[in-house]
Amino acid sequence: MKTTLLFLCVGTLALCLAATHRQGSMVAKASSSVTLADSIDKETGLVLDSNFMLVKAQCTSCHSPKLILQHRFTRDEWLSKIRWMQRNHKLWDLGESEKSVLDYLAKHYAPSQSAYSRREALRNIKWYKLEK
Ligand code: HEC
Repeated sequence: MKTTLLFLCVGTLALCLAATHRQGSMVAKASSSVTLADSIDKETGLVLDSNFMLVKAQCTSCHSPKLILQHRFTRDEWLSKIRWMQRNHKLWDLGESEKSVLDYLAKHYAPSQSAYSRREALRNIKWYKLEK
């Protein structure tokens, strides 16, 4: 009987430790998204990094940067969008900067990333009855 109790205690302790560990990593995640949000250009909403100025120059003169922000593509898909704009919308040959533009897009606007423009989840919603 005593040994069962001991096992129970140890088991609970392990569970608690596991839970606090998980919480810890969640906190770490939350703070890393804060640093991400900090490195966003205020004017365009695009992520700031060493290729940012290049992308701003090549990709925001015809349309709003929102067209980029709203999409998540793989590198190949970004490339085919570029080709599509070149075929249909007079986008010029990006030349040597094409690789850097693709690096930037595939890194920051890949399908695995959530759209920054998405609003936060609603809290404290006050429901009301619709009148007939
Ligand atoms: C020469 C003008 C021009 C430039 C420069 C340009 N685009 Fe576009 N792009 C367009 C036009 C026109 C559309 C279509 C807009 C529409 O449908 O309202 C478009 C649409 C898009 C779309 C939406 C595609 C879709 O499937 O709806 C994305 C994403 C995009 N552009 C990204 C970029 C990126 C990234 C760059 C930089 C490499 C870029 N654009 C540079 C003209 C341009």
